[in-house]
Amino acid sequence: MAIWNLGSINADMVYAVPHLPGPGETLAATELSQFLGGKGANMSVAAARAGAHVCHIGAVGADGRWAVDRLTEYGVDTRQIAEVSAPTGHAIIAVEASGENQILLFAGANHAITTDQLGQAMSQAGAGDILVLQNETNAQVEAVKMGRELGLKVCYAAAPFDADAVQAVLPYLDFLILNEVEAAQLQEATGMAPQDLPVAQVIVTFGADGARYFDTNTGENQVFPAFKVKAVDTTGAGDTFTGYVLAGMDRGLPMPQAISQAMRAAAIMVTRHGTADVIPDLKDVQDAIL
Ligand code: RIB
Ligand code: NA
Repeated sequence: MAIWNLGSINADMVYAVPHLPGPGETLAATELSQFLGGKGANMSVAAARAGAHVCHIGAVGADGRWAVDRLTEYGVDTRQIAEVSAPTGHAIIAVEASGENQILLFAGANHAITTDQLGQAMSQAGAGDILVLQNETNAQVEAVKMGRELGLKVCYAAAPFDADAVQAVLPYLDFLILNEVEAAQLQEATGMAPQDLPVAQVIVTFGADGARYFDTNTGENQVFPAFKVKAVDTTGAGDTFTGYVLAGMDRGLPMPQAISQAMRAAAIMVTRHGTADVIPDLKDVQDAIL
């Protein structure tokens, strides 16, 4: 089986700062590094490092060829990534010593995906494959509709959160992942708690407090505590978690096992500076003493 990821690709400019900047503040960074990022690219790399076959559907500008090469190097199938005239997406990320971050996004090419491109990619998908998307590209509604029609398992990571964007795709989803603040916002917008959503499987994450998995068909839910680690950079940990959950689902792991493994991957990720380039592989995840 394969995972099809309609996902963003960004150049992450990561500024290490003494504290996150406030309004009107000029703040000197102590270090600047560049990584491959974008919630989409991070998820693709995580799922590929977890052993899944991942086809990334996305777009970059001519200035983003390095990003495509790097995705290829990390084992992601990049044949469905278009080169467009818009510049490659980028993120300006401030990370303070506690590991907490602040992100400014420029979508660029991530919003230049065409329905044709999407249709072309999806024509190669087969029933039982997984389709995943996040909220950093255009064409989300078209994608989930196509995914549904083709019998794919349609998954959505509601990040960055936008209540309207989630509600637009909600009727087509099999699996939804969001954090606790987002779950509360979605409940406010729809009047539905996670277990009442018209989505078979829902995961709500609680950062350092772990995650809760809801099987809305059986009404069961289960809590997964997070591992206690010393955080240096939480950026990309959520994306790594999602990528690992998807790879586990794709391998046919029972959901609790997929989630436990993803928890381990996310825990390792917060101890590392950077995004896609530093996502742990399955062996790292299995061997880590947490
Ligand atoms: O979730 C982390 C990601 O958010 C970064 O890689 C950045 O590019 C933004 O998309
Ligand atoms: Na990190």
